[in-house]
Amino acid sequence: MRNKICEELNTSDIGKSVDLCGWVDRRRDHGGVIFIDLRDHSGFLQLTFNPEDGETIFKRAESLRNETVIRVSGIVNKRPIESINPNLSTGKLELNVKELIILNQIKGNLPFPVSIHDYENTKEELRIKYRYLDLRRGKLINNLKTRHKIIKVAREFLDLKGFTEVETPLLTKSTPEGARDFLVPSRLSKGEFFALPQSPQLFKQLLMIGGLNKYYQIAKCFRDEDLRADRQPEFTQLDIEMSFINEEQIIEFNEKLIKKIWKEVLNIDLDRNFPRMTWKEAMKNYGTDRPDTRYEMLLKDVGNILGEIGFNIFTKAIKNGGSIKCITVKNGNSKISNVRIKPGGDIFQVAQDAGAGGLAFIKVKENDIETIGAIKNNLNESIISKLLEITSAENGDLILLGAGKTEVVNQSLDRVRQYIAKELNLIDVNKRWNFLWITDFPMFEKNEDENRLEALHHPFCCPKNITIKDSNDDEDLLEKSTAQAYDLVLNGLELGGGSIRIHESRMQKEILKKVGLSDEEIKEKFGFLIEALEMGAPPHGGIAFGLDRITMLILGEDSIRETIAFPKNQQSKCLLTDAPSNVSNSQLKELDIEITIEE
Ligand code: AMO
Repeated sequence: MRNKICEELNTSDIGKSVDLCGWVDRRRDHGGVIFIDLRDHSGFLQLTFNPEDGETIFKRAESLRNETVIRVSGIVNKRPIESINPNLSTGKLELNVKELIILNQIKGNLPFPVSIHDYENTKEELRIKYRYLDLRRGKLINNLKTRHKIIKVAREFLDLKGFTEVETPLLTKSTPEGARDFLVPSRLSKGEFFALPQSPQLFKQLLMIGGLNKYYQIAKCFRDEDLRADRQPEFTQLDIEMSFINEEQIIEFNEKLIKKIWKEVLNIDLDRNFPRMTWKEAMKNYGTDRPDTRYEMLLKDVGNILGEIGFNIFTKAIKNGGSIKCITVKNGNSKISNVRIKPGGDIFQVAQDAGAGGLAFIKVKENDIETIGAIKNNLNESIISKLLEITSAENGDLILLGAGKTEVVNQSLDRVRQYIAKELNLIDVNKRWNFLWITDFPMFEKNEDENRLEALHHPFCCPKNITIKDSNDDEDLLEKSTAQAYDLVLNGLELGGGSIRIHESRMQKEILKKVGLSDEEIKEKFGFLIEALEMGAPPHGGIAFGLDRITMLILGEDSIRETIAFPKNQQSKCLLTDAPSNVSNSQLKELDIEITIEE
């Protein structure tokens, strides 16, 4: 059909006859000559049609619409100097077409122009619905190629280190990773359901118990949770597990893997060891377990300075066991107007969206401060000077304060911090790849609504420096323990997380009990794991990286949807195939399922 592709052509082909296939990118009619940009997967070539080459072919060229699929044969010519396009590898060439075959016509109107690569002005919903057209614009294909390269480098690296790639089941039992499950009804076991895996966590542990030693998988995972720019309901993990290994060795090993990916894909040497920070430090100074350390504006605890000044919201926060914290925006007074930090303002709204009741502020001025009356009336010189000392705030700086439940204060100030840093361009451009390990996570966090403990990562992480004997001696010891768990954060985004696992059945049962499961529930949900742990489970541990997120950061994209061939939209729908959708009554009958929807 074709004997060349666009990118293969160069000036040595001038005068030769070639056959090419592709799409009409755009057509221009110029004083009797028709110019068509032919596009194939590799690039572009300008085609020329002259009336003297035959009326039929000229007329056919005149009728071509953008995106028509064609095959052309002709002679490669040198372009006149004035029409050379320096931006194209074939910019010095054109094809004088002698034969034109239309392989497929366009019917109807295109939902958006393909040839104008105007991503910003094409609604994302349309880009997802007509993904094949969006792919044709090139950028997404390049993104998919980068994704492919990342996977390839990881595979090569892990293969060399003796890992075996194993596929684990997709039709399985629920693995708790903190999200809702996607369920699949079983036809043969009526009334029963499979769950799609939130991760291959338990299967990779079982592979270690099976003696595989080193496992990895490019694993599809499914989580029914609220979507964000860095989340999809169906995403991919680079999932790794090893036996007879400790936390330090896993961290070191994975640093090498990440460095290899960055070197091979971006030709960047990440030569230093990645810094580490404990979870406690991260929460204290940044209010989040995935801090962006490319800029300052750290959170400062001012509870013991402002808790007793008599301002009701502050007093209540401390009395109820909460916190008062603040961030200081350097020279913020001139950069951020009062309307933005008062009710109705955008910064105030960021805090509210993160759950805070509001946001208080103190503007530091020469020999004075500006704040709302209710606070100002209660501030004296000694309190102000203590406040300025702890915040290092100076004339011109803006202090933004949050008070209330510690989690809410942390969350809202973290969001405000990120929002302001972006807007004021505070991100240090020299810290392009700011990797950070977060370690020493607590084993549990309190679910206030249900008044019970929840595993912070998942309930298979091994506690640090604690044995089951200790825990029996002192219940609290286990509840307050830290996990042998670690997350890798890049520029404020969680790239991956893992842990050393519990390999001892008594400890596993104890932890499952702590998160509220009864003996019967443990048996029913995790009996297979407990049993396996009793049959010679080696110490083991691992990690999983979000492959979509790695790709997104490597590409500098803002959304993981740009790294996935066929993503879901924000409402978790596949707009292309219109899924999820109704199924036929006969399918439901076979499954013995009846649908009732409550209004
Ligand atoms: P975790 O739940 O931290 O750990 O997931 C590992 C990594 O997967 C990515 N990720 C996501 N990416 C896109 N969309 C989502 N909805 C989504 N959820 C998670 C993140 C995250 O860091 N079994 C453990 C790993 C282990 O302990 O080995 C696990 O799944 O980048």
